[in-house]
Amino acid sequence: MTNQPFDIILYGATSFVGQIMTRYMHETFTDGSIKWAIAGRSQSKLEKLSADTGLSGIEMIVADAHDEAALAVMAARTNVVVSTVGPYALYGDTLVKVCAESGTHYCDLTGEPQWIRKMQKAHEATAKKSGARIVHCCGFDSIPSDLGVHFLQKHAQKQFGHTCDDIKMRVVKMKGGASGGTIASMINMVKEASKDAELRKELKNPYSLCPPDHGFTTRQKIVKTAYDEDYKSYIAPFIMEGINARVVHRSNALSGNLYGDDFLYQEAMVTGKGGRGRRRAKMTGFGMGALMAGIAIPPTRWVMEKFVLPKPGEGPSPEDQKSGSFDLLFMGTTPDGNTIKCRVTGDRDPGYGSTAKMLAQAAACMAKDVAKSKKGGFWTPATLMGDKLIKRLQTYAGLTFDLE
Ligand SMILES: NC(=O)c1ccc[n+]([C@@H]2O[C@H](COP(=O)([O-])OP(=O)(O)OC[C@H]3O[C@@H](n4cnc5c(N)ncnc54)[C@H](OP(=O)(O)O)[C@@H]3O)[C@@H](O)[C@H]2O)c1
Repeated sequence: MTNQPFDIILYGATSFVGQIMTRYMHETFTDGSIKWAIAGRSQSKLEKLSADTGLSGIEMIVADAHDEAALAVMAARTNVVVSTVGPYALYGDTLVKVCAESGTHYCDLTGEPQWIRKMQKAHEATAKKSGARIVHCCGFDSIPSDLGVHFLQKHAQKQFGHTCDDIKMRVVKMKGGASGGTIASMINMVKEASKDAELRKELKNPYSLCPPDHGFTTRQKIVKTAYDEDYKSYIAPFIMEGINARVVHRSNALSGNLYGDDFLYQEAMVTGKGGRGRRRAKMTGFGMGALMAGIAIPPTRWVMEKFVLPKPGEGPSPEDQKSGSFDLLFMGTTPDGNTIKCRVTGDRDPGYGSTAKMLAQAAACMAKDVAKSKKGGFWTPATLMGDKLIKRLQTYAGLTFDLE
């Protein structure tokens, strides 16, 4: 589509992460080359945000997530809609439908694989026809994982003439908290899975987001608490692997199996050496299991929602966002046994401070940088934006991508 008044409309500007994004976009998109507006369900909340942020003359668009007509009017006015309105499985269907139908590009922060699959099934053919490029998972899950693998594979190809068929990502450091919106999305997914056997099966399939004809059959290695010789550390499961690995496998499938037909990908957290490292690995594994079990059982879920977990709209303080950071170390091995490592870091807490910057730059990249030859459909960050997004993230969003 051409001639819309806006490059980007930020839908859900009043969410916890949307407010951080609004401030970041206001401070960053200062040269007038990106025309943007904010949107949400509440005029008064948008006005308050605009006043608090010192935005002058910014356009505000009001549309409820279930109001198809209002969303269609909004989508017609912009090149890209970027949405933080979640849980997406509860509020996201109509906006994706409207964007796919109108040819408006769309990106978001979902980490809900069951919802992404549903959207692909329902709207991929329409998006291909209209030219709408849809990219889910443009936050901490799964940009660093997807682009980290893309970066490592590019350098492996350059150094060894071959991509790696086995990559391990290890979380060396991650400092930051969870927001109510993220917890709400997690709770909703567990609730859906507890009622639906087919969904439980789907959530065990690492290739569930690949196109139906992907042909991958390699059994992925499940991370258990163990000692990892390559990292000289104990490791524990990483909760985001569930979404990140699926996005990486989709990138492989969409790029013609560039990473190989039998590509292995795994994520884990490093917990240190010796007895302390082993204990921390066990505690991390146990803590993750206890959290999921607590959410799955209705009475404990009620107690956790009411008294323990952050509520929608709540999240880490500005100080915690600023003092937060992440450090991810990737190690790849080619079929000939050559190894290569790279590091991806971020300068804010992963889930909010960094995520807000990543999502805003993904939207800007979709609005300004993506080649016209990229057709409509459901893409991944690496396959649609690849090096162009890496450049933006390094220049404007505090991320680094370096070979070790
Ligand atoms: N991928 C990642 O790394 C990552 C990181 C952070 C968050 N997330 C995801 O991002 C999403 C947002 O997180 P958050 O913590 O910012 O959430 P939040 O603060 O709870 O915000 C949710 C937003 O949805 C809006 N909303 C609810 N019902 C609506 C409706 N019917 N119509 C229009 N808008 C509606 C709310 O509007 P009001 O403001 O008017 O109440 C609010 O702006 C969640 O799904 C979360 O899981 C992902």
